[in-house]
Amino acid sequence: MEFFSFCFLSFASLLFIFLFTSLLKFFAPTIRQKLPLPPGTMGWPYIGETFQLYSQNPNVFFSSKRKRFGSIFKTHILGCPCVMISSPEAAKFVLVTKSHLFKPTFPASKERMLGKEAIFFHQGSYHTKLRKLVLRAFLPEAIRNIVPDVESHANDCLKSWEGRLINTFQEMKTYTFNVALLSILGKDEILYREDLKRCYYILEQGYNSMPINLPGTLFHKAMKARKELAQILAKIISTRRQMKLDHNDLLGSFMGDKEGLTDDQIADNVIGVIFAARDTTASILTWILKFLGENPSVLQAVTEEQEAIMRSEEKCGDDQSLTWADTKKMPMTSRVIQETLRVASILSFTFREAVEDVEYEGYLIPKGWKVLPLFRNIHHSPENFPDPEKFDPSRFEAAPKPNTFMPFGNGTHSCPGNELAKLEILVLLHHLTTKYRWSMVGTNNGIQYAPFPLPQNGLPIILSRKS
Ligand code: HEM
Repeated sequence: MEFFSFCFLSFASLLFIFLFTSLLKFFAPTIRQKLPLPPGTMGWPYIGETFQLYSQNPNVFFSSKRKRFGSIFKTHILGCPCVMISSPEAAKFVLVTKSHLFKPTFPASKERMLGKEAIFFHQGSYHTKLRKLVLRAFLPEAIRNIVPDVESHANDCLKSWEGRLINTFQEMKTYTFNVALLSILGKDEILYREDLKRCYYILEQGYNSMPINLPGTLFHKAMKARKELAQILAKIISTRRQMKLDHNDLLGSFMGDKEGLTDDQIADNVIGVIFAARDTTASILTWILKFLGENPSVLQAVTEEQEAIMRSEEKCGDDQSLTWADTKKMPMTSRVIQETLRVASILSFTFREAVEDVEYEGYLIPKGWKVLPLFRNIHHSPENFPDPEKFDPSRFEAAPKPNTFMPFGNGTHSCPGNELAKLEILVLLHHLTTKYRWSMVGTNNGIQYAPFPLPQNGLPIILSRKS
C-alpha cells in the first residue's frame, strides 16, 4: 500500500511541476513581444523604400541610414522587410557565430537560372558536402599546378588587346571566364570552350530580365541556353566515365565523390561557379587598372616588384614562366589587390533570412525578415580604415582589425574561390606591368552598376607594348 501511495505522490508532483512550467511558459512574453524592432523607417506599404534605394547610388542610401539610425536599422525593400547591419560584430554574428539562424536567400528567378541545387541556395548537410568538394578543387595545393595554363590565358588576352581601344571589363570577362573553365574542366576546357561560352553569354542576359518564360523573351532564351549548357556538361561527364580517368579539377572533384552527386546537381554547381567566378574577378581587375592608372607611384612600385621577379635568379634560359612560389613573392601587388577589394567593395552586401525570431543587441530580428550585412559600409568606415575613400595600399602593411575586411565574405558561405581569384589577378598583373603600358580614354570618374560597381563604360583603355 505504501508503495502505491509513494508512486501516486511522485506522479502528482511531476504532473504539478509540468503544468506549472507550461503555464509559466504560456504567460511569459516571447522575444517577439518583449523586444523592440531595430530603429528605422519602412516607407510606403509594399514598395517600402525601394525607390530611395535604387534611384541613387545605393551606398548613399546605406550611409545616410547609418548616420541617422546607427549600425543596425530596419527598412523595407522590394516587398521584403529587412534589417541592415554595418558593424563588424553584427556581421560576424550573422555570418559566422549564429550562421545557422540565417539562411541564404535569393529571388526565385535566380534560382531557376543557376539551378536550385547550386551551393549558394543551401544550408546544412548538402551545403557542407558541396563546400568540401568545391574547396578541394580550389585549395592552393590543387591550383598551384594550373599556373602555366593561367599564364598562357593571360598572355593570349594581353596580345589580343595590343594597340586596340578596349572595354577593359568586357575583355577581362573573357580572361576570367577562360580561367574559370580551366579550373572546372582542366584540359578538356579547350574542346568545349566556344560552345560553353556561347550558351553562358545567352544565359547571363536572362539573369536580370523579367522572369517571363514565353517564346521570344530574354528569360526564355536564357532557360534554353541553360538546358544546352547542362547537355554539354552531361556529354563531358559521360566521356569521362567511359574513359575512367581521374581529373584534378572541379568536375573531377564532383564526380569523384563517393556519396555521389547527380548529373543535375553537378550541372547546377558548375554553372553556379562560373557565375560566382567571372564578373567578380573581372570587375576587380578593371578597378585595379583604374587605380594603378591614377596612382603612378603605386604603379611604379608594382612594376619594379614584377620586374624583379622576371629577373630573379631562378629564371634561367628562355623559361620565363611564373611559378606558384613566384606568386608568393609579390607583397606590394597583393596589397594593391587588397586595397582595391576594399575601396571597390564590389559585393556591397549579401542577403540572409532569419529562420526564427532572433535577438541581437536587445533588438528583435523577426523570423522571415531579410538580413543584409553591409560589407561596403564596414570597409568604408573611418573607424576601421582611416581616410577610407583614399586608395592607399600601404594601409595593408598592418593586418586590418578582426572582421573589418570581408571582400570574400565570412563564415559558412565565404568565398571558396578566393585563392584562384588572387592567383589569376597576380598572373595577369605580372605580364601587364612588365610588358605593357596603358592609358585611359575619356572621363573615368563615373561609376556604373552592372550589377557590380564598375568604372564608367567598363573603363575604355588603349594598351601598347613597352619598347
Ligand atoms: C575577386 C573575386 C571574387 C570576390 C570579390 C568574391 C566574393 C564572394 C563573396 C563575398 C562570397 C560570399 C557571399 C555570401 O556570403 O553570401 C562568395 C561566395 C562564393 N564564391 Fe566568390 N568571389 C570572387 C571570386 C570567386 C571565384 C574565382 C570563384 C570560383 C572559382 C568563386 C566562387 C564562389 C562560390 C562557389 C561561393 C559560394 C560559397 C557558398 O555558398 O558556400 N568566387 N564570393
